[in-house]
Amino acid sequence: MLAILCAVLLVGAIAEDEQQNFESKVSPEIEGDAGRGESLYQRRCGACHSIDQNRIGPKHQNTFGSKAGAVEGFAYSKALKELDVVWNEVTLDEWLQNPSAMAPGTRMGFRLTDEQERADIIAYLRQVSEAAAAQVE
Ligand code: HEC
Repeated sequence: MLAILCAVLLVGAIAEDEQQNFESKVSPEIEGDAGRGESLYQRRCGACHSIDQNRIGPKHQNTFGSKAGAVEGFAYSKALKELDVVWNEVTLDEWLQNPSAMAPGTRMGFRLTDEQERADIIAYLRQVSEAAAAQVE
């Protein structure tokens, strides 16, 4: 009897857990903080990326609002060149969760699981691109 009760409780707990995971994926956007995003960007992305120079990955000066695979002088994979998306809050969030799922064959093998960190870094990239656009005008 006790064993059955335990089993029921366990299944219930797992079901609830899955529900929460599902909800976190579709949760309404959480606020990103560009200030926090700047230092997170250095720590999480800085090994491969910089804002104003192509390194292992392409520079991020104008990423937000531009098409994927559009930085001149960077040798993208075929997967990224053919990826038909414009980078915004939604597409960047999807990309950072799992680049290979979005563009199978991409050379970016890095995933950022923390939702708040993604939002912060995306807010920072947006700020950087908007500042770059304002300078051109
Ligand atoms: C281990 C190295 C590495 C890390 C760490 C990394 N990236 Fe990348 N990233 C790459 C490479 C390489 C590419 C180019 C991929 C290709 O051509 O398939 C890329 C491409 C991208 C692109 C597409 C840019 C474009 O011009 O279309 C974005 C956006 C991006 N990375 C954001 C990030 C962010 C934000 C982080 C940190 C949270 C990060 N990356 C961390 C290596 C990395």
